[in-house]
Amino acid sequence: MIPPCWWGEPCCLKRERDQSNMRTHYCSELRNDHVGERVTLCGWVDRRRDHGGVIFLDVRDRTGIIQIVSDPERTPDAYPQADALRNEYVVRIQGKVSRRPDDSLNPRLPTGEVEIYADQIELLNAVHQQLPFQVSTADEESVKEELRLKYRYLDLRRDRMHQNIMMRHRLMQSIRRYLEDQQGFVDVETPVLTRSTPEGARDYLVPSRANPGEWFALPQSPQIFKQLLMVSGFDRYYQIARCFRDEDLRADRQPEFTQLDMEMSFMSQAEIIQLNEDLMRHVFKTLKDIDLPKTFPQMTYSEAMERYGTDRPDTRFELELVNVSDLLADSGFKVFSGAIKKGGQVKVLPIPDGNANISNVRIKPGGDLFSEASAGGAKGLAYIRVKDDGAIDTIGAIKDNLSPEQTAELLERTGAKPGHLLLFGAGPTEIVNASLSRLRLALGAEMNLIDPDQIDLLWITEFPMFEWNADEKRLEALHHPFTAPYPEDAADLKTARAQAYDLVYNGLEIGGGSLRIYQADLQRRVFDAIGLSEEEAQDKFGFLLNAFNFGAPPHGGIAYGIDRLAMLLSGEESIRDTIAFPKTQQARCLLTQAPSNVDQKQLKELQIKSTAEAKK
Ligand code: AMO
Repeated sequence: MIPPCWWGEPCCLKRERDQSNMRTHYCSELRNDHVGERVTLCGWVDRRRDHGGVIFLDVRDRTGIIQIVSDPERTPDAYPQADALRNEYVVRIQGKVSRRPDDSLNPRLPTGEVEIYADQIELLNAVHQQLPFQVSTADEESVKEELRLKYRYLDLRRDRMHQNIMMRHRLMQSIRRYLEDQQGFVDVETPVLTRSTPEGARDYLVPSRANPGEWFALPQSPQIFKQLLMVSGFDRYYQIARCFRDEDLRADRQPEFTQLDMEMSFMSQAEIIQLNEDLMRHVFKTLKDIDLPKTFPQMTYSEAMERYGTDRPDTRFELELVNVSDLLADSGFKVFSGAIKKGGQVKVLPIPDGNANISNVRIKPGGDLFSEASAGGAKGLAYIRVKDDGAIDTIGAIKDNLSPEQTAELLERTGAKPGHLLLFGAGPTEIVNASLSRLRLALGAEMNLIDPDQIDLLWITEFPMFEWNADEKRLEALHHPFTAPYPEDAADLKTARAQAYDLVYNGLEIGGGSLRIYQADLQRRVFDAIGLSEEEAQDKFGFLLNAFNFGAPPHGGIAYGIDRLAMLLSGEESIRDTIAFPKTQQARCLLTQAPSNVDQKQLKELQIKSTAEAKK
């Protein structure tokens, strides 16, 4: 029986225990059962301590750490080598496993009951430069992210990153096992050099030397190819696919990221959702031993927007928005009535005990809550305080313009009690929702309303097909233009609901998909609705429209952000910490210094001339 390795599973790193091999064991395998055995280990010196002549080495490999002892009396031959070792030197060590003396057992290490008296130490490689930071996590050194990214190979040696990458590996492993072995999915690779796929971001372009003046686009997702694979009859496709999107970066966005991409034929939305819930349950059980519910709750897009102001609500805490537009439509307070007249809304975020805990300074211009609201686009932040005697206290014009009946109804609807603070959002609906949902999240965290151990997985359904792009003055697909409308809504596409579904995990969108259009006529109508002319549609997507003419099955699918899932499973706050070699917020790789200038010769071959000023 092979002992468990550091991540608590039976060790799969089996090998012959032959002394002529480079090594016989991994460091973290050794236990009391091995006492008396002669072993050979390879790894890095995590730490070297000199205790009055006896040298202790913590040697580390991918499984963990073991203590090596070099004693000038007991193992004189190897002592000079042990003395010369420094942190991060690469070594091969031979010796006998011994039980540690009772007063030096280390319960924090799986190998903490044993140690190895090294009779042979071979230096395989030294460190020839000063280490930019300590690799050993024993020192708990906090290191700047830029430095970690520049020396990523060292950062990946450290325990936290090593565990994150192993978690990511196990995530992909459990997904593959489940989809292939239990659900019959087929892994098919799709091209990376391709045409633009409309997922709403800018494309990364690649010039074609063989076809001067023409460009490939890197895929924003494998969307069109996976649909074509359904036309080809593969029935159940999946791929762990790299996607590229040139968009503004945040903690949960990278220009190059990984999707679990899936597509299925002849399945209803309910069946697709069920299969995906089973997949998520499998993943959480395998990786975290967490039992997710048999079915996840569902909420329509309009309900989510109404109650939380966002289509990815964090439902772990209440603090819901209350729409009071109808109540205040003809209030004398022009900020409210004016917003409603222009087609906007007035909503309230009621905060229990906010009266005592949130000062006016924080709500007024310059205050942190005001800034939060203005980051969502709000121009101001009106408020009402409910005093201990139940009377209301406000600034300026609101109070004088609310009738006693309106006030009573407002307090009733918002559930306001003495001590409540009511924060108002008034204006265009998107701005009201964006600013109040930001305030909701900020205050939920501040008021400790969020249980960090709770996992809320929630499907958002019935999205609108389109949203208005004010800059380009046209409708644009909310998901992508291949999403099918509900059949009963299809007569008027502009107001139709889409058969789309997003999976939200504690307020973060981890996946999204839809049933697809599989009829050329309907697809043409959707292209038309987003302002693509007949010729443009034919030019960009003629091959897809054509494919639909050759017997396309009804189909649908979904894609998950693997980086985001890995981040949540590892308890990290940035996807950069679950990607081996990520880019910075400026979309640069600090390790390889990409992007970089290229030779003029290469540009000439591609017939490209840069108009950018060369960097010094
Ligand atoms: P969507 O654009 O919603 O759908 O992407 C699916 C999931 O991918 C993740 N994601 C990202 N992760 C990191 N960095 C990014 N820049 C980034 N962008 C998206 C999110 C998201 O939920 N083709 C459709 C799927 C389908 O309809 O089947 C698509 O790509 O977790």
